[in-house]
Parts: sequence; structure tokens; C-alpha cells
Amino acid sequence: MCGIFAITSNRRQDIGQILVEGAEKLTYRGYDTVGVATVHKGRILLRKDKGRIEEVAAKLGLAEMPGHKGIAQLRWATFGAPSKVNAQPHFDCDKDIAGAHNGNIVNYLPLRELYTSEGHIIRSMNDGEICVHAVERYYDKIGDMVEAIRKGCGDLRGDYAFAIMHKDDDKVYAVKMGSSLFAGIGEGETCVSSDLPSILPVTRNILNVHDGEMLILSPESIEIRQISDNSVVERSPYISDADIRVAQKGGYPHFMLKEIHEQASSARSLFNAVREPYITNFEQALIDAERIFFVGCGSSYHATSVASYYFNDLAGLSAIPVVGGQFISQFGQTIRKGDVVVCVSQSGETKDIIDVVHHCKERNSRILSIVNVLGSTLTYLSDIYLPLGCGFEISVPATKTYTSQVILFAYIAARIGIKQGVLSKDMGETLLDELQTQLPDLLEQTIATTTVKARSLAPYLDQFPHFYVLGYGLTHGVALEGALKIKEVCYIVADGMYSSEFKHGPLSIVKEGYPIVFTVAPNDAEHLVNHLSEVECRGARIILTAEDNSLLKRYVAEEDYLAVPSSSHYLSPIIQAVPLQLLAYHLAVFKKIDPDYPRNISKTLTVR
Ligand code: BG6
Repeated sequence: MCGIFAITSNRRQDIGQILVEGAEKLTYRGYDTVGVATVHKGRILLRKDKGRIEEVAAKLGLAEMPGHKGIAQLRWATFGAPSKVNAQPHFDCDKDIAGAHNGNIVNYLPLRELYTSEGHIIRSMNDGEICVHAVERYYDKIGDMVEAIRKGCGDLRGDYAFAIMHKDDDKVYAVKMGSSLFAGIGEGETCVSSDLPSILPVTRNILNVHDGEMLILSPESIEIRQISDNSVVERSPYISDADIRVAQKGGYPHFMLKEIHEQASSARSLFNAVREPYITNFEQALIDAERIFFVGCGSSYHATSVASYYFNDLAGLSAIPVVGGQFISQFGQTIRKGDVVVCVSQSGETKDIIDVVHHCKERNSRILSIVNVLGSTLTYLSDIYLPLGCGFEISVPATKTYTSQVILFAYIAARIGIKQGVLSKDMGETLLDELQTQLPDLLEQTIATTTVKARSLAPYLDQFPHFYVLGYGLTHGVALEGALKIKEVCYIVADGMYSSEFKHGPLSIVKEGYPIVFTVAPNDAEHLVNHLSEVECRGARIILTAEDNSLLKRYVAEEDYLAVPSSSHYLSPIIQAVPLQLLAYHLAVFKKIDPDYPRNISKTLTVR
């Protein structure tokens, strides 16, 4: 994933400053390279290099770049190694035009050959540069940027969003074609960005952009056109109430720790975000479904794993959890009308998920989704979507959005269970009440009771380049998620697995002192005794998250027992994610790794 931020203004001549500020708020979208292009006195100035925004901005004086309009880009490398020449923005051949993209131009190589054969000077190995030459190819003939952009988009294949500008006008142009893009209309200036945090300091007057649309930004206004036929699109802006402070650390050392602590409040805000009639319609679609698939990537996939157990137990419905990138090859031929696919994505932009949506819509199956970022591509491709209402999640590893996804699935499963008579009204209402009133406090208590032990385990775990995280039943998905957190921020091969499966092979890894992490839900403690015993008797050191349980304590030293507050069985998968998040966070800090921006990965991957 990459991030673009562009602005045109009639009240700034030091545009570099706001471009850098906007880019800083997109750091989580990419930190391999960063660049800024501005237009000053009829010339395009372009400064870019490999490295994070704060390093490159200081080295090249990005904030001091003069001009009245400009484009900033942060890159997560896909095509072309992270290097100065592959950094964005890019020039056209004769440096009259500059542009930058976020996304994936799949026909990059044939276009590179075609444009080169036509005499274009293509300087990089980055697909973003092709967007600029695609526009230049037609501009040189037509002399009109809008028409040149429309025709240039006709050359491009893939999912992308780009911002582009010509040195001779006061405009910035932007295109949304499968990757995220938002726009803002300020006082005497307008801007576009891959995400809202960089727009809000300029303006809260936000304009949603849909795929297939082009924006023409002037300092006073933004015009929307359909790329297909150049027709004008009328759409009113709205005032965003998103809290920009969310995008600041608020006194925490890292966004990841801040967002772990925000889970109680995001659990509360979830129930304000989910509204009628959408949730009832969402549930009815599931009740009416012939088959149900839950589809997600990364942490969102792990939420679907826990959700499938909830639906089995509480709703009496079978739901198949599937990894986004796997869905089309595994179910693509059999998906059909009557099936319901629930896509789970905090960003609403993950390409592996968007591809599933397009595939399933072509086969007339219904698309429901659970999304955090409003206005994202997934929200308007879905028949019904439910918002998480978590606010911005900045840290690359998901935490609060993951737990809110799981909470929402538990809530929906319980409501369906009551409607369908699978749950007694009493049991169902009790669970709904626990989710809405008790859970936030239990999350806060869990942080309080497990932080010290989680932090004290870091020096021990730091000795191991790999270990296992095992779960059972409802906590299977929790084990997968805990293992992913450790992989993401500690660069350790932590393997999440079903605990009953461990004896079928992986058990061979165990030797004296080897760490095995277990996460155990209240009703499953007895099932786990054998699994604990088989590793303990071979010398493993067991680290365990569960509520206080004398049976379990026989296998675990006091300092390794991360006791969570007692709760209903069905709340435990939500609560027990927290100690594993804290274990990963503190181990990362111990290893001097920045947990917010781990190497090589990105918050949202808009490439397949
Ligand atoms: C990955 C992120 O790129 O995408 C994960 O590193 C995330 O943290 C996954 O869980 C899915 O993202 P989303 O936005 O679809 O939930």
C-alpha cells in the first residue's frame, strides 16, 4: 500500500509544509520511500528519496519547498526496489507534469515497452511512473489535462488512485480506480488523500469519491467527473466528526499500545456505530442464506475464524471462514446466487477482499461487510455494511479493530440465536448485555492484570526465533491472531494452531524450556489438560492466558499464567486477545523494534 496527499491553494506559497504534515499522517501506509513535488513560478520542483518521512524531509528540506500546489507520496514498494529513482512522485518526459499513485498497474511492463517505443523517457522501475506517461501520451496531442487523464486511464489496468498536476495551471487532478481516495474542500484550498487523517488538519469538509471518478481540484472548489463519459457528478460534501487526535499518540510511546488501551472505548462506540435497520437487514440476509462465507485477511481473517465458532454455537448457522486471497481459487467456481459472503476489512481497501467482492457480485451472491473506514471502497460495493466505529487505527498491527470485529460477530450471532430460537431469550439477552455493558470494563481490567507479566516474559521469549501459540474451539482464532501479532512486530516465527493438532507433528519441536503459549476459554479447560500435559511432560515452558483455573494452574508457573478476569465463555475470545497483544507489544519493544511500523509490511495492502 502507498499513500498520496495533494493540495492546491491560493493562500499558501510555502506548500511544502502542509504536504509534509499531510504525508506524516499517512506514514502507516508506506515508509520505504517518500517524495514531494510542488509547482513554483511555473516550474515543478521534485525532491524524493529512500527512507521514512522524517529522515527524507530533514535531508531534502521537503517542508521548505515553495509553491502553491503539490503532491506528496509515501511508498510501500511493490514494483521496483525502494530507491530514490523508484520513489514517487514522478515527472513526465519533459517535466511539465508530475504525478503519484497508490495501487497496482498490472499492465505496467507492456505499457512501459509501448511508451518507450514511442519515445518516452521512463526513468524508474515503478508502476506509478506509468500513470504520468499515460496522461502525457495524450496531453501532448490534445493539450487538455482532463481529456488526457480520461484517455490515459483507458491505457491503465489494475486498481489504483493517482494525483497529477501540470505546471501551467492552478489545478490538481485525481483519479480513483480501486484504491482509496478522499477529498477535502477548505478555505481557498482543496486537497485529496488516500486517507482522512491528512485532510482533517486542512478541512473537515469532506467529499467522498467513488471508483471511476476523476476530481478537478481548484483552490476554491472540486469538480467530479465520470471518467467513462466525462459527465459531471453532483455530490455534496459532509462535515467529518472524526477525531484527528486519534491519529496522535496521546502520551503513549506507540500507537499500538494506545490502540490496545482504546479497545474498551472502541467496544463501547461499536454499539453506537451499528444502526437499525442495517443490522437487522444484515442478520436477515444471513438467516436467509443458503451458504455463508466469512472472508478476511490477516487479523480480519482471524476474526472470521472466531466468528464461525460463534455462529455454530449461538446462531445455529454454519459459516465458512476463508482467507481473502484464497477464496476465488477455493470457492470461486461454486459461489452462487443465494450464498452470502461477509467481507471483513478494517480499511475496506484490501485488494484480496475487493477482488472477492467483484467475483461474487458477478455470480449474484450477496455481499455484506464489516468495515472500519467509512467511505472506503468496500462500503459502497457492499449490499449492506456495518461500521466498526473504532476511529483511525494507525499502528500497522491491528488490535482494536480486530476485537471490535469479534465483538460485532458475537453480538450478531446472539441476536440471530434469539430470533431463531437457538438461544433461550434469557441466555441471549444476558450475553447481549454482557457484550454491551460488562465487556469494556473486563477489557480494561485485563490490561491492568496482565501487562506486568506480559512485559516480564519478554527477555525469556527473546531467546527463541520461533514458538507456538495454541488455541481450542472459540480461542482457535485468538491463537492465530496472537501468533500474527508476534510475527508482525517481533520478527519471530510464531505459529498459531489448534491445540489438538499439535501432537500430530509439531510436538517434535518441544525440548526443555521451549515456550508454548496457550489461550483457553472457560468451558474448554478440561479439553486442554491432555494438550498441556503432553508438552509439559517433555519440558516445555507453558505460558497461558485464561481465567483463574486450578486445573490449568497445575501446568503453569505463576509468572507464566496471564490470568484474565472471569467472564462468560463467549466473552473469553475477545478478552484473551489482549494479553497476547501485550506479549507481542512488549517483546517488540524489548527487541527495540518499532511496533507501529514493522519492516516490509503495511497497514493496508491494495495489491494482490
Ligand atoms: C495487512 C495488515 O496488510 O492487512 C494486517 O498488515 C491486516 O494488520 C490485514 O489485518 C487486513 O487488513 P484489512 O484492512 O482488510 O482488515
